[in-house]
Amino acid sequence: MRAPFIAGNWKMYKTVADAVKYVKELRGLVKDLDAVEVVVAPTFTALFAAAEAARNSNVGIAAQDLYWEREGAFTGEVSGQMIREAGATYAIVGHSERRTLFGETDASVNRKVVAAFAAGLCPIACIGETLDQRERKETFDVLDRQMKQGLDGLSAEQIGQLVIAYEPVWAIGTGRNATPEDAARVHAEIRAWLRRRTEGQGATRILYGGSVNLKNAAALLAERELDGVLVGGASLEPAGWAELVRTAAA
Ligand code: PGA
Repeated sequence: MRAPFIAGNWKMYKTVADAVKYVKELRGLVKDLDAVEVVVAPTFTALFAAAEAARNSNVGIAAQDLYWEREGAFTGEVSGQMIREAGATYAIVGHSERRTLFGETDASVNRKVVAAFAAGLCPIACIGETLDQRERKETFDVLDRQMKQGLDGLSAEQIGQLVIAYEPVWAIGTGRNATPEDAARVHAEIRAWLRRRTEGQGATRILYGGSVNLKNAAALLAERELDGVLVGGASLEPAGWAELVRTAAA
């Protein structure tokens, strides 16, 4: 069995000082866990300091986004190369908050996934349906479109390396998570889609995200289809987060 991948998305929380304090505490709490991959995603301003604080530990660092150009007149943007240099090794791409609040499309997600690979970052590509789409039974059409366009042009090898986060939009920050069975059913469809796309390779890690917490993590991770979780709110406090990571490693 692959080591579960447990990622914490801090969103727009934590100063540089908060991030460093958190990572220093977390690295001690998880230092004996090797059966799990732990990643946290600070804001851009805290990336470098968090990565320094995580150096030589088993805590990985992700950016929450990236821009697809290497450098240039793109005010406010940060490139994959800059993120990699700051010490991160992952980048979240296409989070539903980026899609709904900042106008990201499947086409921009695609450019970012490609750029992440070019910069030596592993993309964590987010997909997921809204409540309306779910109620209209469009979940698989939406995921099909998001993957078809978002992963366009990638080699089978790249698809095997990336991480997919299935995050139903209706479950993010709402306290309403998908049941383990529901999540597993959707994951199985995503995995089948990826197998078809890569002619049989099944290496892509597929995470579930949306109101994951200490109470529901064990039941979700007991589903073999889930390779890990992407967690927002419940990742903000290091002791609780380390506990959740421990649950995953158990
Ligand atoms: P949540 O967020 O765990 O707070 O629902 C998940 C996410 O946005 O990745």
